[in-house]
Amino acid sequence: MGAEPRVRLPYCGVTALIKIAPSILSADFARLGEMVREAEAGGADYIHVDVMDGHFVPNITIGPLVAGAVRQVTTLPMDVHLMIEAPERYLEAFARAGASILTVHVETCPHLHRTVEQIRELGVKPGVTLNPATSLDTLFEILPYVDQVLVMTVNPGFGGQSYIPTMTAKVARLASMIAARAPHVEIEVDGGIDTDTVRAVVRAGARVLVAGTAVFHHAEGIAAGIAALRLAAQQTLSI
Ligand code: DX5
Ligand code: ZN
Repeated sequence: MGAEPRVRLPYCGVTALIKIAPSILSADFARLGEMVREAEAGGADYIHVDVMDGHFVPNITIGPLVAGAVRQVTTLPMDVHLMIEAPERYLEAFARAGASILTVHVETCPHLHRTVEQIRELGVKPGVTLNPATSLDTLFEILPYVDQVLVMTVNPGFGGQSYIPTMTAKVARLASMIAARAPHVEIEVDGGIDTDTVRAVVRAGARVLVAGTAVFHHAEGIAAGIAALRLAAQQTLSI
């Protein structure tokens, strides 16, 4: 008898570290359910939902109704990114729609601690995010209270923009801040993430990778887009 076939699990030690969060902003909205199911089957870890109000950002996108419809077609955690003014008005609606993580912008929350506590009281994980030009100092006091920090690597409002290169150093500085102050917090990045830029952000400390264009517009389909990002991230961590 030959030797037992060995089950090979490439990079299994680091697989769990990286989460891929496809942003449905780049999906075909006429076939949204189908595309979310395809992302789940293709190995997505979260479904990222971009909520925009036409005030805080120049675009208008999704409300609780569509988020609730997404909830019906997937069991994955729904990662809801609120790019809206006075987000506290809509926390309950998105919690009821099935959000697993609710992320608010520090620029929209004068009472950030209260808003974060409200999210937790709703049974949802709180995240905070900041625009590219907003200083990491705005996070110092809130870090121990959140589960995730999202570093915007483009100016929020649209999919398909180019990664802002100086954000790599920002992610690295945040990673040091988190290690010293709140090691449970995960770093997420959002905007212009593809198989090239993913290497720099992962090396800097990002572990949750939002990608719209690189997943939903991948030439070989959604699963191939997710696999390519995961491979690039895993290779970076294995070096
Ligand atoms: C931008 C959104 C992103 C966007 C990412 O305001 O928050 O989630 O959809 O899209 P890509 O990956 O195409 O930059
Ligand atoms: Zn987003």
